[in-house]
Amino acid sequence: MADGTAPPPDHGTVHGTVDGTAEPANGTAEPANVTADPADNAGGVNLLTRGGHPDFLDLPWGQPLAEWDHPRLVQMAHGISRHIVRFVRYDDRVYALKETQRQVAQSEYEILRALRDEHLPVVEPVGVATDLRPAGDNGGDGSSPSGDHDPDSAMLITRYLDFSLPYWYVIGRDGPVLANDLLDAAAVLLVRLHLDNIFWGDCSLSNILFRRDAGALMAYLVDAETAELGPSMTDEMREYDLSIARENVIGGLLNLQADGRVEDEIDPVAVADDLSNRYGRLWVELTKPEEFSLDERWRIERRIRRLNDLGFDVEEMSISRDGTRLRIKPVLIEEGHHSRELRRRTGLEVQENQARRLLADISSFRVWLERTSGKDIPQAVAAARWLADVYEPVIEAIPSEMGERLEPVEVFHQVLEHRYYLSERRQSEVDNLEALDDYMRSILSHRPLERQLQLESDATDH
Ligand SMILES: Nc1ncnc2c1ncn2[C@@H]1O[C@H](COP(=O)(O)OP(=O)(O)O)[C@@H](O)[C@H]1O
Ligand SMILES: [Mg+2]
Repeated sequence: MADGTAPPPDHGTVHGTVDGTAEPANGTAEPANVTADPADNAGGVNLLTRGGHPDFLDLPWGQPLAEWDHPRLVQMAHGISRHIVRFVRYDDRVYALKETQRQVAQSEYEILRALRDEHLPVVEPVGVATDLRPAGDNGGDGSSPSGDHDPDSAMLITRYLDFSLPYWYVIGRDGPVLANDLLDAAAVLLVRLHLDNIFWGDCSLSNILFRRDAGALMAYLVDAETAELGPSMTDEMREYDLSIARENVIGGLLNLQADGRVEDEIDPVAVADDLSNRYGRLWVELTKPEEFSLDERWRIERRIRRLNDLGFDVEEMSISRDGTRLRIKPVLIEEGHHSRELRRRTGLEVQENQARRLLADISSFRVWLERTSGKDIPQAVAAARWLADVYEPVIEAIPSEMGERLEPVEVFHQVLEHRYYLSERRQSEVDNLEALDDYMRSILSHRPLERQLQLESDATDH
């Protein structure tokens, strides 16, 4: 199931300590009983991790991340980073490790947690590793046998966001069409942060991960190091954040051009302008006050519907009356209108555009049911039957290997498109399972494994 905009509930926090030497790492937590031999020369570490994840105790924490040579390491496709970032695999899950300073790692971990609590689309923080000590160093007097060990270094652990794609891959593979969606997704993310009074401070193409979302893209924040959560957000702060984003986007595109990954005709400044404009239009659309006369109260409803169409819900609207004039301004706005609606009707957790698509399919299924049965079908009945008779049969028919290429809900969306295309070509009705078969054979089987996109994959050579 898609991770969607609503993160799964968080588990408790688990403390673990491992030390490659005979001594416990510190007095506050029980040393974990490590029997695996890699730990014999793994060095010491103090790990704070959330429940529901591996304990990570078998990793060589005592060595600088750049020097790790460990069977769990995997080469994922990723963006440009300031720090050393590497990835490790545990069964079908991948985790990102970022080497930084203790305070930086701890604060980024806390910020990511806070953003997830706000249901913002960000990567999942999993833990922080501190007190990293080489084997043989019990941390007692701060000296280390290797001499070059930084006692303040730490690592932030985040869960690799499945089906996320770095910007250079999106631009390189799918060209200008998706580049448009990429800017829209980035603008939505920045607007969502600002609506929640979050100053990002380092919005860049590398610091956003993109997931396919029913023909569009959805943006996730991956780097929260500079983010600040405020009680409010002034227009100047928003402008400043946007100007940082602009500079970063220009720099990122120039780098891609230097690498030959983006055509020289593309003007990075125009792209950055485009991002600002999209951001500005969305911000105005979501937040601008409207004034009208008392007998035009239907305009309130119209405003709410417009915001819903953009994918936002209005939780609070300020309405003031001055004589015969009304003034309205949306106050609390939350993204995810369609995904909440779909969850309410079916329990499915998917991204906003995917939800929009599925809701439309439920509606047309209901029309069909009513027509064939000659009866009115309540919305709830139509949704339940659609789930059982339409959606689940397709999802269950997707072999797991195909599900590594594209998220199953995306496959469903593509199957609807493909079915339409096949029916037109054949001038006759094609059913979903037949369309799925044809889609998998003719298209999906040739697509790269995007669930956890690896660097060596052919797909990343574009
Ligand atoms: N949890 C994650 N899931 C997927 N990719 C990630 C994750 N964490 C980091 N990355 C990738 O690593 C890159 C660098 O991570 P980032 O946190 O931005 O490091 P830095 O602070 O050094 O810039 C990102 O651009 C992204 O491509
Ligand atoms: Mg970064």
